[in-house]
Amino acid sequence: MTEVIVVGSPREAGELVAGAILRLVSDRPDAVLGLATGSTPLPVYEALRPHARALARVRGFALDEYVGLPAGHTESYRAVIDREVVGPLGLDPARVRVPGDDIAAESARLGGGPAADELALATAGDRYEQALAAAGGVDLQLLGIGATGHIGFNEPGSSFASLTRVKTLTERTRRDNARFFASPDEVPQHCITQGLGTILRARHLVLLAFGAAKSDAVAGAVEGAVTSSLPASAIQLHPHATVVVDAAAASRLRFLDYYRQAWAHKPAWQQI
Ligand code: PGA
Repeated sequence: MTEVIVVGSPREAGELVAGAILRLVSDRPDAVLGLATGSTPLPVYEALRPHARALARVRGFALDEYVGLPAGHTESYRAVIDREVVGPLGLDPARVRVPGDDIAAESARLGGGPAADELALATAGDRYEQALAAAGGVDLQLLGIGATGHIGFNEPGSSFASLTRVKTLTERTRRDNARFFASPDEVPQHCITQGLGTILRARHLVLLAFGAAKSDAVAGAVEGAVTSSLPASAIQLHPHATVVVDAAAASRLRFLDYYRQAWAHKPAWQQI
């Protein structure tokens, strides 16, 4: 089953998940991390900062990226990952990929111009999948969850078999993310995101959520029907999924007492 761990604060969640990442990296220094953006994973990155030396050889693959932002925009997920993760944790930038990060190079290879740009975008998902496979797949995938129930930018209706591809953002997601932009109109319509099928291939999924605004999406993901109408419910199909939530995000869970009991009595030898 999906393991649900209710923590006292985002900081505590960050420490817990950072501990799992450090154990992974001590076994395999070049482990592959699936990186998430947004506010939710920040406590994990913060908790990892004192351990940056252990992370020098880690490889990273981001979940998603906007399509259509001007190159170098400060809210592109490439810029966010560089600012929040690569820089503070001392990762090697060459070992960290973001979907679509090779579009300009691929377009140039094809001769440049609008048609080459389009083709490079249309095929970027396939190239990302190839890069993930060549890296041996993701060992631990961090996930946030949107109010729409999205993981990555897989909005409701996303196929459980989907791979990295271009998607249209819902208006709800554009509104939720408008806080990062000067005006809501600046939020792109399109994105390129790992698919639900891509995410399900990761060996360990760690979904974090904080605050009451996420409580419905969390309850649906963990205990609701497995349905593409709530893409995060795909985690129920995964053999090793861990959901780390604060009390507010956990407040709509039906089996909350059981999750708390299981965590309180978890054998010391078992890891998350
Ligand atoms: P948030 O976004 O962490 O900024 O709330 C989560 C998501 O949309 O996946």
